[in-house]
Amino acid sequence: MGTNLTNLFLAKRTKSIRTSIIREILKITVKDSEFLSFAGGLPNPNLLPSELIQLATEKTMSFNRSEALQYGDSNGYRNLRSQILERFLDLKDLDLDSICITHGSQQSLDILGKLLMDEETNVLLEDPTYLGALQAFSPYEPKMFSLSLEADGPDLLELETILSKDKIHCFYCNPSYQNPSTNTWSIAKRKQVASLLDEYGVILIEDEAYKYLDFSGEVFPSIASFRKNLDLTFVLGSFSKIISPGFRLGWTVVPKSYQKYFTAIKQGNDLNSNQYSQIVMDHLLSNLNIDTHLAKIQMYYRKQKEHMRFCLAKYLPEVTYHDPLGGMFLWVNFPFVSEGEFMEKMMEKKVVMVPGNEFRLFGIESVFFRMNFSFLGEVEMEEGIRRMASVYHDIIT
Ligand SMILES: Cc1ncc(COP(=O)(O)O)c(C=O)c1O
Repeated sequence: MGTNLTNLFLAKRTKSIRTSIIREILKITVKDSEFLSFAGGLPNPNLLPSELIQLATEKTMSFNRSEALQYGDSNGYRNLRSQILERFLDLKDLDLDSICITHGSQQSLDILGKLLMDEETNVLLEDPTYLGALQAFSPYEPKMFSLSLEADGPDLLELETILSKDKIHCFYCNPSYQNPSTNTWSIAKRKQVASLLDEYGVILIEDEAYKYLDFSGEVFPSIASFRKNLDLTFVLGSFSKIISPGFRLGWTVVPKSYQKYFTAIKQGNDLNSNQYSQIVMDHLLSNLNIDTHLAKIQMYYRKQKEHMRFCLAKYLPEVTYHDPLGGMFLWVNFPFVSEGEFMEKMMEKKVVMVPGNEFRLFGIESVFFRMNFSFLGEVEMEEGIRRMASVYHDIIT
């Protein structure tokens, strides 16, 4: 029996909830193995440090059994916070209380929505922006503004115009290998934006999910590291893309004045992040040479990206994109087709990627798709692009 929607009681905020087409696509591709998916942001299974994870799991059960099987500190396992502080952050004068471990960085986006946003909040987002941030923030009903992106970061003139015209409370951005545009902000733009945000007193939510996925091993400094006003600065990081998303572990640097609220909201969400997986991660990081591990991922993804470019040049010379400096995606413009028709016909041929308008506040006519290159092997990638090209050429001829 179907649900009678007219009788369904729902809170008002549910009218602004956005669904995720990526999750829907993932469900279909998991059910039907003939699908070739360029849709997810999944790490390549060959890069997961499985043996070391097994060892870390055994150590956890041998040496930390009782604490691993208990509730833990709502801000996260202390030893793990201390490894994050030493290895993954570039901010000065941080202490362990500034770091809160979350259930993936996605949880932090929801906590920040609850903490900072309501109908009177003005939030600035890059155009395009991460779909998961739109999903997390939308139920809190902030007023959203979008900012054009150039290859090396935001359009600064536009940013200054928006800041001087509208009171912007928060700016959410993803400055390294942005999901989905793949653009990476230059150091100069990071500095200029930090200074503008200081001048206008804007809260920065800096999402660094892909920070360590540069193809040549460069690590760009955070925008936060150039800010004077760290009281208005949240920095999010994640183990999902560099270790494994299965752990569901991320972290957030929370300014002092917000810590009490952030922790209380987290407690209302889940009391604490998975204690077991935090302790396994702590052992894993102690045994893993993280620099060697990151270098391996960077080399692998660079090769995968080059293979995708080779296949696109061979089968789909009509498309255009910027060659990214890192990350997991190409952001590809397909001329002469409509997003809906192309997507529908690709599904019939069992190949999928994510339509670009999913990542925008306001749809545009040009047709972009986000194509993931980290997950499929070379043969499947070529077959997927061959199928895609046959659909594309059927439509345009
Ligand atoms: C930009 C960005 N931020 C945050 C996330 C959430 O990642 P997780 O919750 O796995 O840390 C993702 C996941 O794809 C992402 O692309």
